[in-house]
Amino acid sequence: MLIKFKKRWELSENAITPEAIYTDRRQILKAMGLAGVAGAALAGFGNPAFAAASEDPSASLYPVARNAAYEGGRPLTPEKLATTYNNFYEFGSHKSISEAAQALKIRPWSVKIDGLVEEEMDIDVDDLLSKMQLEERIYRHRCVEAWSMVVPWSGFALKDLVAFAKPKSNAKYLVMETFQDSSIAPGQKQFWYPWPYREGLTIEEATHDLSFIVTGLYGKPLPKQNGAPLRLAVPWKYGFKQIKSIVRFHFTDERPISFWEKLNDKEYGFWANVNPEVRHPRWSQATERDLRTGDRIPTQIYNGYEEEVASLYKDLGRERLFM
Ligand code: MTE
Repeated sequence: MLIKFKKRWELSENAITPEAIYTDRRQILKAMGLAGVAGAALAGFGNPAFAAASEDPSASLYPVARNAAYEGGRPLTPEKLATTYNNFYEFGSHKSISEAAQALKIRPWSVKIDGLVEEEMDIDVDDLLSKMQLEERIYRHRCVEAWSMVVPWSGFALKDLVAFAKPKSNAKYLVMETFQDSSIAPGQKQFWYPWPYREGLTIEEATHDLSFIVTGLYGKPLPKQNGAPLRLAVPWKYGFKQIKSIVRFHFTDERPISFWEKLNDKEYGFWANVNPEVRHPRWSQATERDLRTGDRIPTQIYNGYEEEVASLYKDLGRERLFM
């Protein structure tokens, strides 16, 4: 994975929406009984997130109620930064893909649920959204490249999707795949990458309370560059596990080899749990750069979610849990 750190002085302060403004906007919209489109209008022109929100038929669903059980532990990353500093290799192997990602067509969007399930199906994303309970959670997000952010995701518990899919008792893994269409995603013309992007979790991980399917960000539909219309958030793992723009949920009894692992299994593994003491072969994971302040802060084991998730791994000592 390439690393390109943006220098602190490259960020113009007035290009950033401070958290206080975001919070005020939510309160004003709630008080006025307005949501979605109005929220997008207040977000301002020129932000690629605005274009995504205004053409998204799910816009009226947002903002959704916040689940206060999930707090970020430090201030939110400004929306402008979280929506313009991205990894989405389908649109380029650098951070400034937010404009290019607008080529992604997010409706109609069909999701396949297949493999070891009672009944395979294709379901339209809006139909799926209507069956799920949406809520907002603030999560920390730690990229393997040693930068991090804190963002308010909207979405639903992955365990609810697993329950809806009715996996058979021999299903051990859930594999997720991103769309594949090189006519809109030029990165997919780069044949040396093993497209489509693929990631997987054990069923125990997928049904853990923290595992979340993201459909929105900052009280609006998820911007394309952040992985609309569906992306994964598993905040105790490195960001590359958090697959974007999912079109398939496949249940299997075989451990999948994910996109980055296939490219380089010496550097990227299946588990990818955050651990400050286990170096990436080319750099330390002891600290991370907070995107909001530019400061380096200590990295925490399991990205600070140890209490919640450590028990998932108690009998797996011989596995490479931290890469
Ligand atoms: N999903 C797909 N399909 N393609 C990608 O290149 N990059 C991953 C992850 N999901 C990626 C992806 C990486 S390395 C990170 S750090 C996060 O998305 C970045 O999410 P963000 O752009 O919303 O911060």
